[in-house]
Amino acid sequence: MRVTMIGAGYVGLVSGACFADFGHTVTCVDTHEGKIAALKRGEIPIFEPGLDDLVASNVKAERLFFTTSLAEGVADAEAVFIAVGTPSRRGDGHADLSYVHQAARDIASAMTGYTVIVTKSTVPVGTGDEVERIIRETRPDAEFSVVSNPEFLREGAAIIDFKRPDRIVVGTDEERAKEVMTNLYRPLFLNQSPLLFTSRRTAELIKYAANAFLATKITFINEISDLCEKVGGNVQDVARGIGLDNRIGSKFLHAGPGYGGSCFPKDTLALIKTAQDYDAPIRIVETVVSVNDQRKRAMARKVITALGGSVRGKTVGVLGLTFKPNTDDMRDAPSIAIITALQDAGATIRAHDPEGVEQAKMVLSNVDYVDSPYQAADGADALVIVTEWDAFRALDLKRIQSMMAQPVVVDLRNIYRPEEMASLGFRYSSVGRGLADL
Ligand code: UDX
Repeated sequence: MRVTMIGAGYVGLVSGACFADFGHTVTCVDTHEGKIAALKRGEIPIFEPGLDDLVASNVKAERLFFTTSLAEGVADAEAVFIAVGTPSRRGDGHADLSYVHQAARDIASAMTGYTVIVTKSTVPVGTGDEVERIIRETRPDAEFSVVSNPEFLREGAAIIDFKRPDRIVVGTDEERAKEVMTNLYRPLFLNQSPLLFTSRRTAELIKYAANAFLATKITFINEISDLCEKVGGNVQDVARGIGLDNRIGSKFLHAGPGYGGSCFPKDTLALIKTAQDYDAPIRIVETVVSVNDQRKRAMARKVITALGGSVRGKTVGVLGLTFKPNTDDMRDAPSIAIITALQDAGATIRAHDPEGVEQAKMVLSNVDYVDSPYQAADGADALVIVTEWDAFRALDLKRIQSMMAQPVVVDLRNIYRPEEMASLGFRYSSVGRGLADL
């Protein structure tokens, strides 16, 4: 099949490369000339494990193409995916749909023959109706269907998530569009991934409901972890104890510094706004957002407490800046709020991240970025684990202990064992594991 992706960002690029790998002919379109030129040279603008090889092999096989010309990309395509950004609109938290609407107008002028237009970007309920209206207005004669096909991939595991999804959600009532979508995803049925057909509005809502539910699950275990610290419980055992109940499930029960990233913060806000607009407020999600915001500042206070109540004039080493491991993405990373609060309290920050430093430099100033975890620890009064990169799990902790001005470790991802840290002579604090351990 001939497929076009509008937007060569995270979702567009991963989806485009994976569809090409299924054997379809895919053209990725982006208005950003520098990005397209780089992709043509084989340079991938984001860090995602396996994506460079996947792009290279499909470019070589002449199944994956890049262009800045939307008209060229869309003509003759059987399916055109809209995978442009939907950032939070400044001021009100609603999703900004201007890129989606522009894409709809551009596609309308360029398409030839029956075309299925698919929204892959996370868009509020009713956006499909609006995209359909815009296209009909621009091209009253055109034959097309507008389908919602939300994407659930996680950064850092995007290719696996795309190729082995828990489910594929397709929102349309039109048989012709269902057939096109079924053919597109056919290779996945061999892996037994369920294809769920729903109405378009329902599909749009499923994406928001899924992300809001996961954000709620994380926030729930985070609050339980606070209680564990007060009553002397262990949150990892609580998570295991409740997670073995199939109705709850064991995933997304890792307590930490609060969720971040490009999806949860933006999508929870957008869902809240939509629900308020329709006079059906989702109060549980409103609470989740506010609890998660407060949590990041609470994590800074945890560091201050670990250093005896003040960080003024002290050096804090930070390990991990990205919102999670295996990405260079700093969007809404908890590290931003934590580091800013520590700086406001008078600390000097020395930070290391395996992939995120370039992005971090754009959002965090006055930070001394260093090349290794050991440099971050050298002479520091405290070492804070903010993101659980695998590389931090196997550090020479004895060496770290001997390098620090004070052997204080605040582990916001529970990657070390309290007994081992104590036996190495650290004053160690983590999340939800026993009474305040300092
Ligand atoms: C998420 C959804 O998982 C994905 O389905 C959707 O399409 C996009 O949003 P992503 O943002 O890439 O994906 O990352 P994810 O692995 O879900 O983590 C999000 C945040 O939650 C991170 O900050 C992570 O550290 C945090 N998290 C996750 C926890 O704190 N605890 C957990 O148990 C799981």
